Amino acid sequence: MPATVVVGSQWGDEGKGRVVDLLSAEAEVVVRYQGGNNAGHTVWVGDRRFAFHLIPTGILRGKLSLLGAGMVIDLEVLLQEENELAAAGVEVIGKLRISENAHLILPYHKLLEAAEEDRLGSKAIGTTRRGIGPAYEDKAARRGLRIGDLRDEDALADKLTGLVAYKNLILSKVYGAPQVDAEKVFNDLRVLYGHYAEAICDTSLIVAEALASGKNVLFEGAHGTMLDLDWGTYPYVTSSSPTSGAVASGAGIGPKYVGRVIGAAKAYTTRVGAGPFPTEVGEEIASQMREPGGEFGTTTGRARRIGWFDVVVVRKTSRINGLDALAITHLDVLGQFAEIPVCVAYECDGEQTAHFPNDLGRLARCQPVYETLPGWQSDISGARSFGDLPANAQRYVRRIAELVEVPISHVLVGRQRDQSILL
Ligand code: IMP
Repeated sequence: MPATVVVGSQWGDEGKGRVVDLLSAEAEVVVRYQGGNNAGHTVWVGDRRFAFHLIPTGILRGKLSLLGAGMVIDLEVLLQEENELAAAGVEVIGKLRISENAHLILPYHKLLEAAEEDRLGSKAIGTTRRGIGPAYEDKAARRGLRIGDLRDEDALADKLTGLVAYKNLILSKVYGAPQVDAEKVFNDLRVLYGHYAEAICDTSLIVAEALASGKNVLFEGAHGTMLDLDWGTYPYVTSSSPTSGAVASGAGIGPKYVGRVIGAAKAYTTRVGAGPFPTEVGEEIASQMREPGGEFGTTTGRARRIGWFDVVVVRKTSRINGLDALAITHLDVLGQFAEIPVCVAYECDGEQTAHFPNDLGRLARCQPVYETLPGWQSDISGARSFGDLPANAQRYVRRIAELVEVPISHVLVGRQRDQSILL
């Protein structure tokens, strides 16, 4: 059975967690393949809110949940997330497997990132300050520590001593920031390793066996394609690749096994952190959508920037990911507007373009070209089939599919599991 991947087709926070939660009902194995606890996937079950940062959302339905090699993992955060889930009655440890090849986020990564973001001031990227970028930097520089390195105590102590000495030099001499205590880091890691030792393995073997035996495997992308290190609005991006293409390298399978690519897209657009956002609206409109849409970061609690649906963006991310279908989320949030603008092209340097410029200088000169669609001005949160939606809401969804040239697979009209329409 070919595997399915759910990716974000905007700047993250598209509601991937909700979509993965729906699809994981049928899955047997759910796999995260990139990123770390900069991600935040929220799932509501009744009045209980579950916020995932590292653990695949599939754990909620008792599915085998893997943290793949492409991830960067902060074990302290993992333990905290596990404890919160356990307190809510969700079994974690028996269902969790962690790639021995995934990289560790260590205390100095977080300190270095905070020091650099502070130094940059108004030019900062606006990262989540979870140490993601510095951990991936160390991975690329071939001095990262991997989960598998925790097994050999002596080798770990040796590597850590050298690394902490090097990072402390940068922290103190470059930034004048507090230093890290190597012994404390080592002791904390040993305790965390003791807890997770049984879960650490070569997760690519589990995925390969699952695929070979025809099991339903679901890959849970994090962030959004517009935050991709290569294809996003660089440098205002994250340090991994949230695309469908990264499934193969991040999970350790051949690309031919990814059979279905579903992109999650909000019925409008949001972004957290700095960087270009062509359809961003002013605070007057944004404030009307922020509360109903819950537009505050799951990870950092920051108020999200808000804009209209941008066809130029989603056409690009559809191309990069090879989208088979779009899951449109948060459609209910638009119910308050008499008219809803949709950006269909950009006007740039005296010409119209349907393509998102890679050059941020050119992008800054682009103005969105809007098509205005009639709103439905009603509460659609009770709709359970496409036919239940008011005619103008149906028209809005159909028009997005037509403009983006991708069929719609799901429409989500609220945060609860049953507030979803399968097309
Ligand atoms: P980092 O991933 O913490 O390095 O942050 C880099 C940029 O990506 C910042 O603008 C973050 O706000 C953004 N970002 C990272 N992860 C997410 C996410 O899951 N949702 C939305 N934005 C994110």
